[in-house]
Amino acid sequence: MRECSNLRIHPSTGGNDTTRNLMTGGVVALNQFSDEYKKLAANPTLIETMVPEIVRWQTPISHMARTAKKDTRVGNVMLKAGGCVALWYISGNRDPDATDMPEAFIIDRKNPRQHLSFGFGIHHCVGYRLAELQLKIAWEEIMRRFRSVEVVGEPQRVCSNIIHGFTDLTVRLHSK
Ligand code: HEM
Repeated sequence: MRECSNLRIHPSTGGNDTTRNLMTGGVVALNQFSDEYKKLAANPTLIETMVPEIVRWQTPISHMARTAKKDTRVGNVMLKAGGCVALWYISGNRDPDATDMPEAFIIDRKNPRQHLSFGFGIHHCVGYRLAELQLKIAWEEIMRRFRSVEVVGEPQRVCSNIIHGFTDLTVRLHSK
């Protein structure tokens, strides 16, 4: 199988839309789940497990797709050559059979890297360690400088079925 031509957008997306929206998504998540923010303030070393949880909870790329080169069976479904399959990472990341309480943002999950946000198989994201590192450093610096980042306006979202992100988020920074 290969990627559908209309979805060959990743080179400009990797490490840009993705990590940027993860920084915003993390702020939104911690404000929605304020007990998790308290947990983080009490123990900033939880950034380590919080980072992959942000990646799962936000899922900055909602889906990618594959085109069958030949007739292929996937589970009980027969795919004709040329048929396209959307891989909804965002849906898999909300699967209660795979993640306990998947809608919840929990910064100290036991297996936080068990998610589909970076894809799966031979095309699994090659930049995932860099993405995690960027997010880790961003949160270490935020926690060092600010008591909290408070969301004070309704998050404005990107209108896209591929990029799951934000155009605007108004926040108030509370210094230590
Ligand atoms: C949180 C940030 C990121 C997310 C959510 C993400 C997501 C993904 C996903 C879902 C794929 C699989 C595409 C597919 O199966 O067709 C992928 C592949 C890839 N990513 Fe990322 N990515 C991120 C950051 C980065 C960064 C920082 C880089 C580069 C430094 C990068 C480079 C790549 C490349 C080159 C591939 C293609 C790998 C291949 O086809 O073998 N990504 N990424």
